[in-house]
Amino acid sequence: MNNPLIQSIEKRRTQYALGAALPISEQETTALIAAAIRLAPSSFNSQSSRAVILYGDESREFWNIAEAALRKIVPANAFAPTKAKIDSFAAGAGTVLFYEDQDVVKGLQDKFAPYADNFPVWSEQASGMAQFAVWTALANADIGASLQHYNPLVDADAAARWNIPASWKLRAQMPFGSNEKPFGEKAFMDDRQRFKVFGAASAESRVAA
Ligand SMILES: Cc1cc2nc3c(=O)[nH]c(=O)nc-3n(C[C@H](O)[C@H](O)[C@H](O)COP(=O)(O)O)c2cc1C
Repeated sequence: MNNPLIQSIEKRRTQYALGAALPISEQETTALIAAAIRLAPSSFNSQSSRAVILYGDESREFWNIAEAALRKIVPANAFAPTKAKIDSFAAGAGTVLFYEDQDVVKGLQDKFAPYADNFPVWSEQASGMAQFAVWTALANADIGASLQHYNPLVDADAAARWNIPASWKLRAQMPFGSNEKPFGEKAFMDDRQRFKVFGAASAESRVAA
């Protein structure tokens, strides 16, 4: 589709083959990540999303923490594939840790009691939007990334290492770096099972690819 935003969305793919070189500086990458999170929507504009951005040795330290945590639960004789995966994340230029500030969630629950049950859900949705915005912005800058979930295994050690406030809850990790391999094939389900369109000009209205 000839639309720049859709083209950027299409460019966002899971990349596991990461290298340490970035096509832009670390400062520009940080600015990109921060802008994407700052501009992402949140319920009541509560801005509950937080991020810790790790480069180089700091990023590798995060994956050391993940490896040590996994060694405690994965049998030693089955650890090789896990180790290979962790090493591939550590081979990147950096990692974004996505958090949601639970103090913000609690504050909203106190302030808007009728919606109390919704705020934790909306916080999760806001985190997903922030993650998607960052992933897409990185892809648009030709930076590869994937989305990982080693929380809650790594939470305590990461909190101690980077002095994370107690109210920040880790939701996802995004290792990023240079794209070292082409993206894999991706199948799409039939649009007709996915979308229903009513009231459009054509009775045969369907979603154009
Ligand atoms: C909410 C969510 C959770 C995901 N969790 C993981 C994960 O833990 N590990 C992983 O490698 N990929 C994870 N992914 C990536 C998906 O597997 C991937 O986006 C999907 O297969 C489509 O491929 P694409 O990213 O190349 O478009 C997650 C994606 C989403 C949206």
